[in-house]
Amino acid sequence: MPKSNYWKKIKENHLKAPFFSLAPMEAVTDTVFRRVVKQASAPDNFYTEFTNATSITHEKAKFSVRHRLYVDENEKQPIVQLWGNGDDPESFASAADAIKDMGFLAIDLNMGCPDPTVIKNHGGSDYIRHYENAAKVITATKKAGLPVSVKTRLGFSSIDDYHEWIPFLLKQDIEVLTVHLRSKKEMSKAGAHFEVIADILKMRDEISPDTLIQINGDIKTKEQGLQLAKKYPGIDGIMIGRGIFENPFAFDDAKQHSQEELFALFRMQLDLYDDYVLNIGPKRFESLRRFFKIYIRGLPNAATYRDRLVRTTSTDEARQIIDEIENKSELEND
Ligand SMILES: Cc1cc2nc3c(=O)[nH]c(=O)nc-3n(C[C@H](O)[C@H](O)[C@H](O)COP(=O)(O)O)c2cc1C
Repeated sequence: MPKSNYWKKIKENHLKAPFFSLAPMEAVTDTVFRRVVKQASAPDNFYTEFTNATSITHEKAKFSVRHRLYVDENEKQPIVQLWGNGDDPESFASAADAIKDMGFLAIDLNMGCPDPTVIKNHGGSDYIRHYENAAKVITATKKAGLPVSVKTRLGFSSIDDYHEWIPFLLKQDIEVLTVHLRSKKEMSKAGAHFEVIADILKMRDEISPDTLIQINGDIKTKEQGLQLAKKYPGIDGIMIGRGIFENPFAFDDAKQHSQEELFALFRMQLDLYDDYVLNIGPKRFESLRRFFKIYIRGLPNAATYRDRLVRTTSTDEARQIIDEIENKSELEND
């Protein structure tokens, strides 16, 4: 099999402007939502929800992994994000082999998750306290030959950790380093530390000029990302996470989108969900409900509709509410 040149291609196509990515988000960036975002306005890169490295080759976890790593033929191939125990690099080597056999083109390693259970299992941001684990896991994952990137935070307890942590990662010869501009301790509460970007870019230029730097945290729209990249021209990529909940068109250049367009996306998500459940397998309806508020914005009585939508128990019930809103606004416009 020829070596995947996933990031090389992305870089070649973005010499003048940054590339954009939808952030990996647990229970959000599944195949259904990735296709909705692609329809609204596709970023250059999609990521899967984080997936445990051990589970990928574990017989008993096959069912869950099949769902997590399900990719539809109509979507852009996502990058697989792995998390796992830093004491067990071999699990990453085996997972990377399996991922390659499944036809994926790139792997991202989660070294920033603040979840206490993940940290207790020596995953996520625990790597920021155990550099040696990070080095071993990166080396092990690379063995399969797929390009490997890392997504991390500035530090564990303090953002100042980045003075040592970022140079260390840059010495590991990784394709892309995505930096969420907060410490683990800050969770998502503090504002992103844009002030360290220039420093990070300088470190990259000095230590590993070929590593792409992707910036993440509090960037809500493509426009905001472009402005940031203009201010700091060395930025290669911009990753948007929660901005997508405020605006599913976050990756679009156009600022305004109509309520009709939003409802069309909403209906698409409901249809894709039904299709998934029918053809691939069960999926918790609650995981779908969290998205509904995205589509009900700036409408008269939006709060009431949102309230009703979060209490629905089926896609048909949700469709009825959309019909009701649409019929009402047609009457009002008569
Ligand atoms: C619901 C949710 C789930 C997340 N799951 C993951 C994940 O699986 N892997 C990961 O690296 N980061 C995860 N994150 C963090 C985001 O990828 C991103 O780093 C963070 O939200 C900051 O970016 P933002 O300010 O643009 O949202 C998650 C964030 C949210 C809100």
